[in-house]
Amino acid sequence: MPLDQWTQVDRYFADLFAPADPVLTTVLESSRAAGLPAINVSPNQGKLLLLLARLLNARNILEIGTLAGYSTIWLARGLAPGGRVVTLEVDPQCAEIAQKNFVHAGLAETIELRLGPALDTLPKLAAEGHGPFDLVFIDADKPSNPAYWEWALQLTRPGSLIVADNVVRDGAVVDAQSVDPKVQGTRRMLELMAADPRVSATALQTVGIKGYDGFAIALVTKGKQF
Ligand code: SAH
Ligand code: DHB
Ligand code: MG
Repeated sequence: MPLDQWTQVDRYFADLFAPADPVLTTVLESSRAAGLPAINVSPNQGKLLLLLARLLNARNILEIGTLAGYSTIWLARGLAPGGRVVTLEVDPQCAEIAQKNFVHAGLAETIELRLGPALDTLPKLAAEGHGPFDLVFIDADKPSNPAYWEWALQLTRPGSLIVADNVVRDGAVVDAQSVDPKVQGTRRMLELMAADPRVSATALQTVGIKGYDGFAIALVTKGKQF
């Protein structure tokens, strides 16, 4: 059973590199207690987000899709001193739980949660002069991925990184005829990423605690050489 083996290896790596701590444990418990779906990133994926943030010396991170704030806290822990995360969430129950988790994590001043549909909040952020963000993590409703991709490009600069979650979906992504709007939204985003001369991008499959899925990663270049 490869999935079982992959899960065991993922647990082994997580115990080594991303061990649970009281804050993250509380986030997952609050999520479970509220009946939220267990679709947060895995510990090792969270650690990867932290490392990417550190590599970028990120001072300004945007996340689309908060849930209970698990990935948000990993991202915040990767910030350079004085940095901030803006995270967007449409569901008031998620937002309330996440906000409590940020307070409990001592990150209430570091993380700004904006409640509302991200496609309403993103133009407001732009109008308010937010950005450019050093890192954008796209992880909300998948049918909107093409629109989130365009906003992520609007709100970044050369050298920024855009990461999108759940681009594999148990392999469903290869089905061009899929009637699943999540698959179609993700495929369209991947095609936009691949064709856009303003970025250099790739996608990675992941297996483990969260099953079989993956990340797409795009470095914003906008004509610059890196
Ligand atoms: N990033 C989180 C998981 C996010 S799950 C983590 O890894 O811990 C996806 C989240 O996107 C859910 O909380 C869902 O309510 C939110 N979402 C769905 N549609 C949205 C929209 N239109 N605008 C903002 N958030 C949305
Ligand atoms: C789904 C969303 C996620 O962000 C995730 O990590 C896994 C699944 C979903 O909408 O099915
Ligand atoms: Mg996700």
